[in-house]
Amino acid sequence: MKNLFEYNLVKALKSYHLKLFKLGHFLILLLSVTGSLAFTTTVSKTYKESLQSIAKEKGLFYGAALDDYIFQDKELQTAILKDIGAITPENGCKWDIIRANKDFNFSHCDRLLDFARSHDLIFRGHTLVWHVANPDWLNKEINPSNADRLLQEHINKVMSRYRGKVHSWDVVNEIVAPEDGRPDGLRKNIWLQNLGGDYIEKAFIYAKKADPNAILVYNEILIENDSKEARAKRQATLQLLKKLKAKKVPIDALGIQAHLWNNDTFNEIGTFIDEVGKLGFSVYITELDVSDTYIQGDLATRDKEVAKLYSDFLNKIINYSAIKGIVTWGWSDKYSWMNRHEIPGITREDKQPLRPHPVDDRFLKKPAWQAIADALQQRN
Ligand code: G3I
Repeated sequence: MKNLFEYNLVKALKSYHLKLFKLGHFLILLLSVTGSLAFTTTVSKTYKESLQSIAKEKGLFYGAALDDYIFQDKELQTAILKDIGAITPENGCKWDIIRANKDFNFSHCDRLLDFARSHDLIFRGHTLVWHVANPDWLNKEINPSNADRLLQEHINKVMSRYRGKVHSWDVVNEIVAPEDGRPDGLRKNIWLQNLGGDYIEKAFIYAKKADPNAILVYNEILIENDSKEARAKRQATLQLLKKLKAKKVPIDALGIQAHLWNNDTFNEIGTFIDEVGKLGFSVYITELDVSDTYIQGDLATRDKEVAKLYSDFLNKIINYSAIKGIVTWGWSDKYSWMNRHEIPGITREDKQPLRPHPVDDRFLKKPAWQAIADALQQRN
């Protein structure tokens, strides 16, 4: 059974992209007939530094999501450690890994944290409250009488184990969904259904108690582009942040995941980040990647289009002072989450592997790497 997240992502994007996809098909046909399709992959500048060193010069950090595969690939370790200053555990610290059954198994989360600390990397904890990656027993057994205990027990046990070692935690993840029809725009997840809307402030209060020095983040998805769906999500997000601030809930930052798609435009996200910053919140770009599901053409064409999306998005947001760090949801195409198994609405029709990350499957820099480096350089 594909996880709920993948279907939600597909639902949110299918109509928006399918129309564009057909248009794209027609244009490619037209261009190939006129023979004016001539693309080459040129990496205009080569920085001697790494993305991390460029980011650090600008008061930011750059990192990538990692999973257990890092421990089986020494070549990847050597390559990626030259480029990153932070990691986010892609799956190792989620409910379905830590509490696949009722016992706590921290081995995956421990190993990734130890890897980060042994290489002096920032570690972003991910994630404590979400509607996906919950073990079956939790979905089956949660009810109004045990929900608060389950929430507090999980947050306390996980966060206090890593107290003082985690830079920031995605305490709650993807919690607005205007399509669920609530006036407050909140997603109808198991926590809302069993604890009511104040599960969010409870989560942050429990988190603050468990690790007073960790930066506490609300992490949100698909709020970046100019579509009406993303606009509605930004409005619900802002409304929630204002409410939490008014109630003096201990929340420090908003995570903008930034899973981007071809043909996305980003004319509104800057104003939103400015408003979030003016409320006193920091902003992290937490899961940046660009899906080339619907990009036609040869690899050079796809890489060029992916790089353009990175540039378009990052150049729009890089100069907001609220932005504190950027993490890409993967570093090399070799291990991309998008290629691990068929994901409806993400896997390409031609079944070719996707190429969403800064470097390719041989750890060579792609135009996307250059686009990120150039955008970081632009920061004032
Ligand atoms: O490791 C097992 C493997 O042993 C087993 O054979 C296989 C069977 O399908 O499953 C593997 O676990 C999968 C895991 O990824 C590792 O590949 C899980 O089924 C699968 O559900 C899990 O998907 C992850 C997804 O979150 C749900 O947790 C993706 O890797 C991960 O990239 C994705 O990341 C999310 C963020 O946490 C939140 N924002 C969106 C982002 C993208 O979906």
